Amino acid sequence: MKMWSGRFRQPLDPAFEKWQRSFPYDQRLLPFELAASRAHANALKNAGVLASEELSKILKGLGTIGERAKSSPEFLNDAEAEDVHHFVEKNLAALIGDTGYKLHTGRSRNEQIATDLRLYVRHSIDTLQDLIADLGDALLTRAEAAGKATMPAYTHLQPAEPVLVAHWLLAYLEMFLRDASRLADCRKRANLCPLGSGAVAGATLKLDRKFIAAELGFDGPTANSIDATSDRDFAVEFADALTMLALHLSRWAEEMILFSTPAYGFVELPEPYSTGSSAMPQKKNPDLLELVRGKAARVMGCATTLKTLVKGLPLAYNKDLQETQEPLFDSSDTVIAMLPLVIGFMKTVAFNETKMKQAASSGFMNAWTAAAYLVERGVPSRLAHEAVGKAVALAVERECDLEKLSLAELQAIHPGFDAGFPACLTLIKVLDLHDVPGGTAPAHVQRALQEARKRIARLRIP
Ligand code: ARG
Repeated sequence: MKMWSGRFRQPLDPAFEKWQRSFPYDQRLLPFELAASRAHANALKNAGVLASEELSKILKGLGTIGERAKSSPEFLNDAEAEDVHHFVEKNLAALIGDTGYKLHTGRSRNEQIATDLRLYVRHSIDTLQDLIADLGDALLTRAEAAGKATMPAYTHLQPAEPVLVAHWLLAYLEMFLRDASRLADCRKRANLCPLGSGAVAGATLKLDRKFIAAELGFDGPTANSIDATSDRDFAVEFADALTMLALHLSRWAEEMILFSTPAYGFVELPEPYSTGSSAMPQKKNPDLLELVRGKAARVMGCATTLKTLVKGLPLAYNKDLQETQEPLFDSSDTVIAMLPLVIGFMKTVAFNETKMKQAASSGFMNAWTAAAYLVERGVPSRLAHEAVGKAVALAVERECDLEKLSLAELQAIHPGFDAGFPACLTLIKVLDLHDVPGGTAPAHVQRALQEARKRIARLRIP
């Protein structure tokens, strides 16, 4: 039996009937729909609408539907069910008779879908927080293992200053920790219960909304029925947070791809996460990384679809909102599926520390330290910059490093240079110069590593 056939004298066009159904994709909401239905049934009993035996029959029936869906997937091949709400109602009636139709008393699918989707988003966020913590652990473990290893940091993709490899890895950790915090923030607003909002104006029964919300682990009921039945902010916010996470993963992937090319040679692609070429026998390609970069476009597309869907919607529920489901699921699935692979890659990728160090020690990346040396001896910063610039130009001409210029050559450029100059230019001196919290001086990186452990652990607290 349809949920709304009474008013109709003509059957639906069969093609339209099939086309408007959401059950093919909203069936994944079944566990949430069942949980929400249990909470509603209990509230109906408390409101005196259901007798105790009716409640037990309904709860038992809902349990059977859940078990059947798990044990026999063909149960879900239902060509009649319009959506997950209709599916539950018709199967409940098939199992327990007309009492099953009492479950829908005082509720509307508009509040049900809003509730199911909030429960879905909450569940996805919890899964993602665990995955981000795993990714954080993987990055941090590599950062700790990197010890004093160094590499160039780039600006404009030109070598800029040497940094600890650990400092570079911790840069990504910061991005992912921000993503976790965005998701946690989104969870707060998502975790309110629309049940009791009815179709638009509120339930037609005196339901205890606080009770229903608590049953489902929500922080409380939503405040306005018109808003609650049409609000999809939580889906938009979630997809936007996912987009940011996907963008960070994409930046990471791009840098790994660059660093794995022979021109850099910093990263050796792990075979279990790379692929060959059907044509060129020598190839090992960074397909995992390229797909991670590509998936970001897809997630961003989903977030854009969601925003475009709601931008012109008058209050309250409109069927357009059914179209929010697939991009919401797709963005979540895409990120949840790729994170374990990124983690696997991060754990196994090999860093060529020798090449990284070579690159960190060449290319005049100690020039700023050289200028700081002069500044410390009283030379005004702009003049020190100019003098070291000239020294660099001379070293380029001589095809040597700054520290290989003779004292006479240096003093001809500026009298502030002295015999202690070459010793200040070693890699460790250059690193130590960046002696601020958040900088790459090894002592600060050490502290950042310790802090990071605690920050990641906090993600796991339920
Ligand atoms: N399948 C519908 C959706 O996803 C459920 C709500 C239907 N409500 C309605 N008034 N037709 O949006």
